[in-house]
Amino acid sequence: MTVAFLLNGTPVRVEGEAPTRTLLDWLRANQGLTGTKEGCNEGDCGACTVMVTDAEGSRSLNACILFLPQLHGKAVRTVEGISGPKGQMHPVQEAMVAHHGSQCGFCTPGFVVSMAVAHLNGAVDHDDQIAGNLCRCTGYAPIIRAAEAAKDAAIPAWMTEDRTAVAGFTAGEAGAFRPADSDALADWYVKNPDAVLVAGATDVGLWVTKQLRDLKPVAFLNGVKDLQGIEARGGQLHVGACVTITDLRDAVADRLPSFAEMLRRYASTQVRNAATIGGNIANGSPIGDGPPALIALGATLHLRRGDEMRSMALEDFFIEYRKQDRKPGEFVAGISFPEHAPELRCYKISKRFDQDISAVCGCLNVTVESGRVTGARIAFGGMAGTPKRAALAEAALVGKPWTEATVEAAALAMSGDFTPMSDMRASAGYRMQVAQNLMRRYFHDLNGVGVSVLEVTP
Ligand SMILES: Cc1cc2nc3c(=O)[nH]c(=O)nc-3n(C[C@H](O)[C@H](O)[C@H](O)COP(=O)(O)OP(=O)(O)OC[C@H]3O[C@@H](n4cnc5c(N)ncnc54)[C@H](O)[C@@H]3O)c2cc1C
Ligand code: FES
Ligand code: FES
Repeated sequence: MTVAFLLNGTPVRVEGEAPTRTLLDWLRANQGLTGTKEGCNEGDCGACTVMVTDAEGSRSLNACILFLPQLHGKAVRTVEGISGPKGQMHPVQEAMVAHHGSQCGFCTPGFVVSMAVAHLNGAVDHDDQIAGNLCRCTGYAPIIRAAEAAKDAAIPAWMTEDRTAVAGFTAGEAGAFRPADSDALADWYVKNPDAVLVAGATDVGLWVTKQLRDLKPVAFLNGVKDLQGIEARGGQLHVGACVTITDLRDAVADRLPSFAEMLRRYASTQVRNAATIGGNIANGSPIGDGPPALIALGATLHLRRGDEMRSMALEDFFIEYRKQDRKPGEFVAGISFPEHAPELRCYKISKRFDQDISAVCGCLNVTVESGRVTGARIAFGGMAGTPKRAALAEAALVGKPWTEATVEAAALAMSGDFTPMSDMRASAGYRMQVAQNLMRRYFHDLNGVGVSVLEVTP
């Protein structure tokens, strides 16, 4: 494996490392760059946050679940490169000092990188920007005050150098394991059907860091440019498998605002910057947040194996727990779904508001004409072994008047749709109660009643 990238402005060439060596391990063990901390080693705490720049811009990522080949041709800036070449402090560092944003300091490098990237990108939604950084002693108020205080400070010159440098940097060929387009991927994967595809590595990364699995062979998809596009055509959005959750969220922000709002609570900024929608679907998790929304939208999934393409309704892809309709050597190429769905509402129920996996994710899309229900697509995550439609609840709605009584009947019908399980996120009883309540909540939501936890006041 040969991988080349810029590290704090200096070109580096990595040879002979396993393709699943994480950036975090390599920075600390091989480069002595120990400012980047290891907290959880699974993408949850942000202590390992680094800035990664490519032609599309700069973003924060978790180094603990970032494999070295994912960096080929890019620029990495660690906390050591966030301060200036002569040791000048970055404005967010000065503000953290002035506002007492650090106590033990373990989380501070990660916060500083997240805040510096947000500052560079002009992002002032501080709560969202640092939702992926955990601090167990200072508390968040001083950190938010620091981010707010630094927001109008000039961007230091060294923070923009990576953008110019990366444009002029020639990394060279990385090898067959990092295909440059979907034709090369299709050709390689059909010959290596046992390979593990790595897109954002926000699931696969944990197979290595937590399960200590030895993955061979692997192919990295982040160089496959033609799977990274989003196109609006014929009333549908066509989204490539390698589109990140961050880019998907931007694309649906105005078109499907409820979907976008749910994606705001999908993991954290760092995870959304890496995670792809193709990985979220292919992974087949019953508690993934993308599939219920996409099923409620009536999305079509596009698969490719060699030169063969096939498409199917997304719900048909999920056969049973962790079993999908995907042949050896076949990969997810993309997904298409209606550009607009004014009645779509996506509700994520989790123990924490930010950075948490759903206990239940309910996505409802009911059309009403002249007071009567003409169509219903209701999909849930967390209620079965796969993301699944509530067929009986849908049947209880279609053709009926759109009234509280109809909705109540649909909510009760749902008990025949699902047999949820109890686990550490929620009990079976809680899940069923929540799913039925989400049906009721949806009715009030469409009637203009404030139902979000951010809207409801005692
Ligand atoms: C801290 C943390 C928080 C998270 N929070 C959430 C959350 O709130 N909601 C949520 O839904 N998920 C969450 N996840 C899970 C994860 O982020 C998502 O499932 C993510 O979308 C996976 O995408 P990826 O690109 O990182 O996939 P990867 O990890 O690269 O791959 C996942 C699986 O899909 C396969 N794969 C990837 N791309 C393709 C393709 N194009 N064709 C065929 N197979 C493919 C891989 O081989 C692997 O089996 C979280 C993960 C972490 C670490
Ligand atoms: S060490 Fe916790 S997110 Fe990386
Ligand atoms: S300052 Fe101690 S964990 Fe944040």
